[in-house]
Amino acid sequence: MYDGGKIIPGLIIFLLIITYPFYTNIGKPVAEIKPDLKTPEIERLEVKECVEPKAFMRAEHMKLLNEWRDSAVRDGNRVYINSKGKNYQISLQKTCLRCHSNRDKFCKVCHTYAGVKPYCWNCHFAKQEGKG
Ligand code: HEC
Ligand code: HEC
Ligand code: HEC
Repeated sequence: MYDGGKIIPGLIIFLLIITYPFYTNIGKPVAEIKPDLKTPEIERLEVKECVEPKAFMRAEHMKLLNEWRDSAVRDGNRVYINSKGKNYQISLQKTCLRCHSNRDKFCKVCHTYAGVKPYCWNCHFAKQEGKG
């Protein structure tokens, strides 16, 4: 039998614990992770925007990348229409890494902190720092 009176507070506590590293960073003058957004391509942008809003990207980029892969590989669709109706080419290399060309100072900074090692680069070539 379910006991709603215990399950709901239990869930809330669980959520507070798993999201702890995120909300404890809010408002800290010196954030522990600083993904670097200064690349030549981003400097050139008139409006400094990602393919989707920042908060969404921060939380959901892994899922978005999975969707992109499935879309390109399974459905042969290589055009992504974002939530504002803007089109982007579906490509890890030509789209994400064109703007975020500083993979070591951007993707890697966070991933090292979070202890994740995406295996994508075994196959997807990423340019060296400084070369583009
Ligand atoms: C047109 C250039 C551009 C492209 C293409 C792009 N980004 Fe971004 N990205 C940005 C900018 C600019 C920001 C910062 C947005 C802001 O501050 O609102 C950002 C923010 C992010 C963030 C959040 C960083 C943080 O500090 O929280 C992640 C994660 C991210 N991008 C991943 C990706 C991934 C993955 C792709 C490909 C699916 C991608 N980006 C494609 C320019 C781009
Ligand atoms: C703001 C911090 C941040 C930035 C910047 C960032 N990531 Fe991530 N990324 C994470 C976190 C945290 C996870 C782990 C999330 C999880 O386990 O649910 C992750 C997971 C992933 C995963 C899934 C890995 C796995 O093993 O499940 C992929 C793929 C990925 N990121 C790609 C990228 C790429 C490509 C970039 C650079 C364009 C990038 N990320 C930039 C924080 C970031
Ligand atoms: C075993 C090799 C391999 C690994 C590992 C791999 N991919 Fe791919 N990926 C491919 C191949 C092959 C294609 C198809 C390329 C094409 O058709 O242009 C592809 C296509 C894609 C595409 C769409 C097209 C493009 O050019 O970007 C995305 C997005 C993508 N992969 C993301 C990822 C992400 C994110 C990871 C890591 C979580 C990953 N891949 C790991 C081999 C790999």
